[in-house]
Amino acid sequence: MKALLVREHGPLETLALEEAPDPVPGPGEVLIDVRAASINFPDLLVIQGTYQKLPPRPFSPGKDLSGVVAAVGEGVTTCKPGDRVCAQVEFGAYAGKCVVRHLNCHLMPASMSHAEGAAMGLTYLTAHFALVERGRLAAGETVLVNGAAGGVGLATVQVAKALGATVVASVSSDEKAALARSNGADHVVRTDVPNLRESFRSQVQDSVGPRGVDLIIDPVGGEVFDASLRVIAWSGRIVVVGFAEGRIPEVKTGYLLVKNIALLGLQWSDYRDREPMKVREVQQRLYRMYEAGSLKPHVMAAYRIEDHRRALEAVRDRKVVGKVVLLMQ
Ligand SMILES: NC(=O)c1ccc[n+]([C@@H]2O[C@H](COP(=O)([O-])OP(=O)(O)OC[C@H]3O[C@@H](n4cnc5c(N)ncnc54)[C@H](OP(=O)(O)O)[C@@H]3O)[C@@H](O)[C@H]2O)c1
Repeated sequence: MKALLVREHGPLETLALEEAPDPVPGPGEVLIDVRAASINFPDLLVIQGTYQKLPPRPFSPGKDLSGVVAAVGEGVTTCKPGDRVCAQVEFGAYAGKCVVRHLNCHLMPASMSHAEGAAMGLTYLTAHFALVERGRLAAGETVLVNGAAGGVGLATVQVAKALGATVVASVSSDEKAALARSNGADHVVRTDVPNLRESFRSQVQDSVGPRGVDLIIDPVGGEVFDASLRVIAWSGRIVVVGFAEGRIPEVKTGYLLVKNIALLGLQWSDYRDREPMKVREVQQRLYRMYEAGSLKPHVMAAYRIEDHRRALEAVRDRKVVGKVVLLMQ
């Protein structure tokens, strides 16, 4: 099979398309002919060697795929050869074939393309777990979504809206603002402004009133996180999802105490590994929302695997809105 391999960690140029042996499914595992793999921001960290979990080299990165079941190991009950599935893995999706634990394979709706299937896995699951499992979102609440035109962000805007929230989206450009609005954001606030701390608070308060927002979903970190802390309503929650901006923020705990704020973390892949049945339920719920027309993954571009560098550079250079996918065949 073809596979993009990391032999040494480093810049994106170190990733090379090579021939590799086909993997073989063991008991409880499924072999998938990969049709599409979506690029997620953490893939860049894995390639560079700065992610928290790194497999032994050489390996294929990629956590999010769709394809067709080619073979199943003993004891597999969730799918059979020929089924169209999406799946999430720790690594290995940037390859022609991938072996996946069967509980992590999800039958895709018939109307969904492979590109959409790959784009509607990890980010939408992360969005749902951030909003519901960690954030305890209730209908009618206000949610601030940072990085709202990115992969996790745009999925979160759509899912929050579908769950009945009022959504405030924070973004850094006109193009991203328009996309957030067209995907359901009720209000848009800008982060590309002077004096972000003051401006952010006044923009959010102009949108939802002086009370602030009930829930914040933050995949950005850095200054955006710092500014966000000042717009949480009394007894609000903030879910830490990631640090795309590069700096891991620090919080003065006195501030949490004074406003009765809950600061929560989310590492979605732990749910994938520890609670796969819960993830299966959520994925099916997301698919029902897709079939009802309330969710629609935004695939900005699909690149052939041979053009992987352009795709990865677009994510690295902050040029992506929604998702970019690699097509394997
Ligand atoms: N906790 C979990 O389980 C989990 C799961 C998936 C992803 N993540 C993390 O969530 C974060 C976002 O992932 P993603 O796939 O949504 O990424 P993405 O599609 O690249 O979006 C990231 C967004 O962050 C904003 N941003 C601000 N400063 C940036 C910078 N210096 N470089 C790049 N983006 C910057 C950008 O929005 P603006 O231009 O509008 O500011 C961008 O749209 C990453 O840190 C990732 O590791 C965590």
